[in-house]
Amino acid sequence: MLRGALRRATTAVHRPSTFFQPAISTAIRTVATTRSAQFSLNTGATIPALGFGTFQDADAQEDAVARCLQAGFRMIDTAQVYQVEEAVGRGIQKSGVPREDVFLATKLWCNTFHPDDVAASLDNSLRTLDTPYVDLLLMHYPVVFQRGAEPFPRDANGRMILGTTTFVDTWRAMSSLLQTGKVRAIGVSNFSQGEIQTLIDETDVVPAVHQMEVHPYLQQRAFNTWLRGHGIHVVQFSPLGNMNPFYRKTGWSKDIAHTTPPLTENALLLDIGRKHGKTPVQVALAWGMNSGRSVIPKSVVDWQIEQNLAAAEIALDAEDMERISTLDQRLRFNDPSADYEYRLYSDLEGIEGTKDGKTH
Ligand SMILES: NC(=O)c1ccc[n+]([C@@H]2O[C@H](COP(=O)([O-])OP(=O)(O)OC[C@H]3O[C@@H](n4cnc5c(N)ncnc54)[C@H](OP(=O)(O)O)[C@@H]3O)[C@@H](O)[C@H]2O)c1
Repeated sequence: MLRGALRRATTAVHRPSTFFQPAISTAIRTVATTRSAQFSLNTGATIPALGFGTFQDADAQEDAVARCLQAGFRMIDTAQVYQVEEAVGRGIQKSGVPREDVFLATKLWCNTFHPDDVAASLDNSLRTLDTPYVDLLLMHYPVVFQRGAEPFPRDANGRMILGTTTFVDTWRAMSSLLQTGKVRAIGVSNFSQGEIQTLIDETDVVPAVHQMEVHPYLQQRAFNTWLRGHGIHVVQFSPLGNMNPFYRKTGWSKDIAHTTPPLTENALLLDIGRKHGKTPVQVALAWGMNSGRSVIPKSVVDWQIEQNLAAAEIALDAEDMERISTLDQRLRFNDPSADYEYRLYSDLEGIEGTKDGKTH
């Protein structure tokens, strides 16, 4: 089924004929509770409900990717800036799982957003990943850095130097890659609603995916509804909230990253977990998938990988979903706006408390 879907995806549908696609929501209820659950993209392709994050632990990623695929994951999320693409490529080979059975997503980094650099940047990723194509290519942020070899180009005072082109220029260049067969779908990450509206208004291609921070403490209900209404599938990054220690260590670490207890200690998630014989982490992941979104938890630990995989089998009932909706505190942990010299998420929830400081 997946192979057929991927073949269909090469003839990418650029703009959904209707913005709202009811087939998406009806499919969710029937398929989101198996390890192989898939959602539909506006390209006609499918995307797994559950994916594997690869940010951090570069040395462990080759084995982690191989092990997660052998265990049953079928989507890998990576990015140029994570510097793990080579390990991811080797991990896919090592797993023995055929390339065409894996949904592979990567992200262009901000110093290659000049429209004349986009095709070469993708080629770089394909070479590093050792694959002829990716299933999804994302623009990592709507911020354009100065073009050149330096991923974080800074002036003498350490401030980021921005580029002269816009994310719309980058998007048009990414759109033309759809004709090459090297990317099967394109999408964005960390965009505001207004920025996505600009892409819809000013270009011919509606993003297939928005990858954004969503977890029980940052539910973004109105934005999620808006995205679904426009046929844009949501992939939740940091689906476990502030459990990634990066959010407590990075230079712009927000106070809430330190004061918010991890999901594993949340009484309500523990209670729902007890009801299903599962952990709070599994309930948080199931909440995302049962809401019609994909989730991409990161782990390099075998028992966690197995646990996260089993989360795809949990069918939460309406009462569970209603109770989890009360956990929304609009807590956004990922906000490098000050470092990037660009107000990210400007029309979205959770932008209070942004801190200055360098990402690395
Ligand atoms: N587009 C973007 O800007 C963006 C931003 C952030 C992340 N991402 C993507 O999203 C992925 C996931 O986000 P994330 O890495 O920030 O955080 P996350 O997946 O929400 O949380 C990862 C943390 O949770 C722990 N963990 C995982 N499974 C667990 C389990 N079953 N029980 C207990 N602890 C568990 C991990 O531990 P161990 O490390 O010990 O295994 C790690 O510390 C990334 O890897 C990346 O691919 C994208």
